[in-house]
Amino acid sequence: MTNAATTTADTPLISARGISKQFAAIEVLRDVDLDLGRGEIHALLGENGAGKSTFAKILAGVHRPSRGSLALNGTPVEVTSPIVAQKLGITLIHQEPISFPDLSVAENLVLGRTGGSPLGRVPWARITRDANQLMNLLGIRIDVTRPMRGLSIADQQMVEIARALASDSRLIIMDEPTAPLTPNEVETLFGIARRLRDEGRTIVFITHRLEEVRALCDRVTIFRDGSKIATEEIGKLSDADIIRLMIGRPLKEYMHKTRAAIGEVALKVEGLTLPGVFSDISFEVRKGEIVGLGGLVGAGRTDVARALFGVAPATSGTVTINGKAEVITEPSQAIALGLAFVPEDRAVAGIFRTLSVEENITAAVPGQIAPGGMIKRALERTLAQDSVRKLRIRLASLRQPIGELSGGNQQKAILARWLLTDPSVLILDEPTRGIDIGVKAEFYDMIGELAAAGRAILLISSELPELLALCDRVLVMSEGRLTANLSRAEATQESVMRAAVPQTRETIAA
Ligand SMILES: Nc1ncnc2c1ncn2[C@@H]1O[C@H](COP(=O)(O)OP(=O)(O)OP(=O)(O)O)[C@@H](O)[C@H]1O
Ligand SMILES: [Mg+2]
Repeated sequence: MTNAATTTADTPLISARGISKQFAAIEVLRDVDLDLGRGEIHALLGENGAGKSTFAKILAGVHRPSRGSLALNGTPVEVTSPIVAQKLGITLIHQEPISFPDLSVAENLVLGRTGGSPLGRVPWARITRDANQLMNLLGIRIDVTRPMRGLSIADQQMVEIARALASDSRLIIMDEPTAPLTPNEVETLFGIARRLRDEGRTIVFITHRLEEVRALCDRVTIFRDGSKIATEEIGKLSDADIIRLMIGRPLKEYMHKTRAAIGEVALKVEGLTLPGVFSDISFEVRKGEIVGLGGLVGAGRTDVARALFGVAPATSGTVTINGKAEVITEPSQAIALGLAFVPEDRAVAGIFRTLSVEENITAAVPGQIAPGGMIKRALERTLAQDSVRKLRIRLASLRQPIGELSGGNQQKAILARWLLTDPSVLILDEPTRGIDIGVKAEFYDMIGELAAAGRAILLISSELPELLALCDRVLVMSEGRLTANLSRAEATQESVMRAAVPQTRETIAA
């Protein structure tokens, strides 16, 4: 790399000047100036659709800016493609993992790295050994010979991170990397990030969690509506300052759930078992009740939800819906019985990428928009428009492909889809993951309204404050078993965590 003669220790690693980006006629980034120093961890914050990922993609050569310039160590650079970025030492870990599902972990780790050996003479033994070494170094325990398909989202994310690290980059951009990780994995990742910073590398860290920014980052930059609002040392801003800068207004008071009248049992689960995955799960959710399901990532909560919805049915146990015993073996059957399920991996499971936003939002209510079989476009539009307004989904047009929306806005659209089905039992799996602070409040209101209207709600969440504030009762799972069923009064940060952490189960029994 040839550096400009003027480079000094103070020259930023990256200087962005006047960066703007238009998609069609819409300007989604406007005149962004930003300097990234060597050896700093720099947070990018902003509401869903504020432009964080777009800016990251411009740095990484995925998008070309419409205007503006970039300099690396004081020297102007054109990052015309991801390959150019890689050569310049810039790596982006995407918001949605883009690994190759059929290849092994080890193969994924070496992909994109320019090896010297000609095709056809791939040194697999060495690749496997190197991959194992890298994973050990990072403290990640994954069998590197396994195919990526079948790994949890968290493990896939760790492999993405390992791949970025293997490539010896000087700028590593992590776009919402912690969302699917357990607290331990987050700590591992933070340890890695700090080590990289201490080696003088630069990390850009995108997240919606302020506590992570405080724990890890040196400086923050806040985006709003495509503009850079501020760059500041983290110590100089309070949480209230950050939120005000992000959303441009004070945060609405939330988490004051109006108690709904609790009615009859809507969902009753007894002895539900899927060997090796979960066993003997029993609980009830009543009409008007919000029941939380807490626990660590990997405790089996999603598996229980998938079993209830017929995606991967349990092998024994009974499920009773509105007083009638049912054996649910397919999602279509679950939907017909009044169940709705907002899956955790919405980006993968829920989205029809080539269809428009309005088609995606109304996809689960064909009966409402096409009475008699003919789709009523006006009706479809009204329903979709209403959801867009309520959840403040940021888009250019209801007719644009959903894949063009920001990550958080895609999630909101899928949430909207299931809220429209007006189910009698609604199962939500980490519904607020990736959703900005400003919209969470609206979302909590909507959940409260649904409960007040007599819906039974099962809320899987790893966010303790969310569980404690919203739920009438909190169930906790650990290693495939139900370890606690806590009333609102009994549920505290401590009681939930104690039941969630595997080793302490005997202590509880004692
Ligand atoms: N390929 C595209 N075509 C059209 N519009 C796009 C495209 N990519 C992004 N946008 C728009 O640009 C805006 C900024 O999106 P971006 O993904 O940068 O937001 P973000 O800050 O990362 O949000 P989130 O927190 O939801 O991930 C959004 O309004 C989005 O719809
Ligand atoms: Mg994004």
